[in-house]
Amino acid sequence: MKRILVIGYSQSGQLDEILANFLKPFQGVEIEQVKIDTKEAFPFPWTSAVFFDTMPESVLEEPVELAPYTLKSSSYDLVILGYQPWYLSPSIPTTSLLKDPKFLSVLKNTPVVTLIGARNMWLNAHESVVGYIEGAGGKVVGNIPLIDRHQNLVSALSILHWMLTGKKERKWGVLPSPGVSDKDIEEVEIFGKKVFEGFQKGTYQGLQDEILAEDKIDIHPSVLLVEMRGKSLFLAWANLIKKKSASSKKRSFWVSVYKYYLLVALFIVSPIVLTIYTLLIRPFTGKSIQKKKEHFLYLGIDRN
Ligand SMILES: Cc1cc2nc3c(=O)[nH]c(=O)nc-3n(C[C@H](O)[C@H](O)[C@H](O)COP(=O)(O)O)c2cc1C
Repeated sequence: MKRILVIGYSQSGQLDEILANFLKPFQGVEIEQVKIDTKEAFPFPWTSAVFFDTMPESVLEEPVELAPYTLKSSSYDLVILGYQPWYLSPSIPTTSLLKDPKFLSVLKNTPVVTLIGARNMWLNAHESVVGYIEGAGGKVVGNIPLIDRHQNLVSALSILHWMLTGKKERKWGVLPSPGVSDKDIEEVEIFGKKVFEGFQKGTYQGLQDEILAEDKIDIHPSVLLVEMRGKSLFLAWANLIKKKSASSKKRSFWVSVYKYYLLVALFIVSPIVLTIYTLLIRPFTGKSIQKKKEHFLYLGIDRN
């Protein structure tokens, strides 16, 4: 019998819900579902200090020890990996999994479908994830990124509230509900059906075209712009914080400098830059935006 491995990490349970709905059409096959965690669990809800302090190691993609987990088989016919970005990088639990020889060994010559539960910025993280999968000899055949569709700053505020309180609720009764919408979580079943059809046919050719044809997945040009600049800025901060962290007191000082930088960049600088970009530059860059979108929407996936 054919075997499918479904593996991932979720703090709030959002990604678990996404995976559960995605898997509904998978009937009559052996599915092994593995939830991973780090040996020392990240807190949820987060404290503000730990939330911002997690940036350097996320961005530098430093793995930590995972809590013990078991894979029943040494090979699978399909691997479904669910993950979330942290600071434009794979979350630390995901990086740790993608650097774990036990997991890497089952990726060899194996088709992989990725599901992402993000705020709205998954591009840089996905570039890394695809790199690790391909490095292990795996083949990405489909990617389903789910995001919070609200305006960038609105979703940043509502997700911060969710992360720091643990409550997926409307802050002040004014902000929208944070994270991926209930509707998108429910409808992910549509994509599960498409992947399962490919699995049954034994070919995933054209799968990503079919996924995108549903018109539910897109990349906003302003997200492209932020992601193109953001990762190198995060890398510079991550390296600076690591260099300056001779003691934990010094580290927390530099992390709080970075935190204020991030808040100013996100809530003051980026709206100004994005307005100028939208009014003056974007109208002339339609073709290159389209090319970049396609690059990210088909990362690692054969298009013929
Ligand atoms: C420390 C941290 C950093 C995050 N950074 C990003 C990010 O760079 N891009 C993004 O789209 N979402 C980001 N998110 C949101 C997560 O990707 C994810 O949507 C959220 O944490 C819920 O995932 P869960 O299933 O693990 O609960 C971040 C979340 C955390 C906790």
